[in-house]
Amino acid sequence: MPYARSGGELHVDGVPLARIADAVGTPAYVYSWPSVRDRYAELDTALDGTGQRICYSVKANGNLALLARLAKLGAGFDIVSGGELERVLRAGGDPSRVVFSGVGKSVEDIDFGIKCGIDAFNVESASELDRIESRARVIGRKARVSIRVNPDVDAHTHPYIATGLKENKFGVPADLAVELYRRAAASADLYVVGIACHIGSQIAQVEPFREALCGLLGLVDALGKFGIAVEHLDIGGGFGIVYEDETPLDLDALGQVLRATLGRRPAKLYVEPGRLLVAEAGILLTRVEYLKPAPAPGYRNFAVVDAAMNDLIRPALYGAWHAVDAVAPGGAPSKHWDVVGPVCETGDFLALDRELAVAEGDLLAIREAGAYGFSQGSNYNTRPRPPEVIVDEDGFTVARKRETVADLLRLEITTPERP
Ligand code: LLP
Repeated sequence: MPYARSGGELHVDGVPLARIADAVGTPAYVYSWPSVRDRYAELDTALDGTGQRICYSVKANGNLALLARLAKLGAGFDIVSGGELERVLRAGGDPSRVVFSGVGKSVEDIDFGIKCGIDAFNVESASELDRIESRARVIGRKARVSIRVNPDVDAHTHPYIATGLKENKFGVPADLAVELYRRAAASADLYVVGIACHIGSQIAQVEPFREALCGLLGLVDALGKFGIAVEHLDIGGGFGIVYEDETPLDLDALGQVLRATLGRRPAKLYVEPGRLLVAEAGILLTRVEYLKPAPAPGYRNFAVVDAAMNDLIRPALYGAWHAVDAVAPGGAPSKHWDVVGPVCETGDFLALDRELAVAEGDLLAIREAGAYGFSQGSNYNTRPRPPEVIVDEDGFTVARKRETVADLLRLEITTPERP
């Protein structure tokens, strides 16, 4: 475990969190690189024998230093925008190991992907296939495509992060996919490389992944009748982690089931994990500014901290639960606190009704914040985003500096001119 107590104080990989707070201030995101590296290795080992390629989903945490380290481990990347492709390139990632997902790819993003020679566009509609084909013709370079099918599998997860049901906007149904594959295979500008799907996020069971893979294999057979073969099967991401008391996804069982389901098929298996690799590695480090204990029965106890919903929106957006640890619990009496930020919204909370022994000035660690934390951050209330710190076994480095208000105002002018 990267986060552990020593002498009562919370450390990350042996470094006291208080020392990081002293060096960079609060709020701050802190990521344990050994934790990311070990999760990557664990998944890679579990999938052994499937011809696996791990395409890290950049949207979970696109910090350049993390991407660079993952690229060195041999990771591929799952991207959803030209901006994310730029990040991967900047981090030294190999574009020929990049898959590009998303329902609304722009002409600019498609052109960028084709010119970089990405491994696959995961195509989400007939119109997108037409657009990619025509851009490939203009550019004079074949585009590599997979069709993202919607396998109509229930991932048993939060409705906002379920993506594989037929009422969701993602992918195309399998019968339409066959038609699209026939068009793609007949095109001089497209090269069919795979079949893709992604059924949702924070999935704790193996069964939905088995069902999804079965769906893809059914399509492999249907395509075989038209002489169309694919090189890879991409089952997407969505591997769940433990925030509170969830059952952890059993990676070894997942690997076994996927191996058995694939059988002797020649196709390689691609996965697109985001959360699994980075969530547990990260915390949001924050300091208590004020305590507002309940003045009378019926009121609540508020611990007002210096981090807010703009830094970590998951609790406000999904009602997500993140554990909160006092970094160095002192002698304060233990009470139930709502941990809230300074933003002017009642929804600005990081945790509700948590038993904590805290005093003003104390540090808190909001746990499992490495995925969809910083990457979903905003500047609401003109709050500069926090720095990102990466911890190694031998110390820590600032991988992204704290934003300044000047950074936020840079693109604005007080007397706008009409174009
Ligand atoms: N591949 C595709 C096509 C995706 O849409 C996603 C996530 C992933 C891979 C990675 O999923 P993961 O392995 O991280 O579950 N903001 C939400 C999660 C949104 C996930 C969106 N798509 C949250 O904070 O829980």
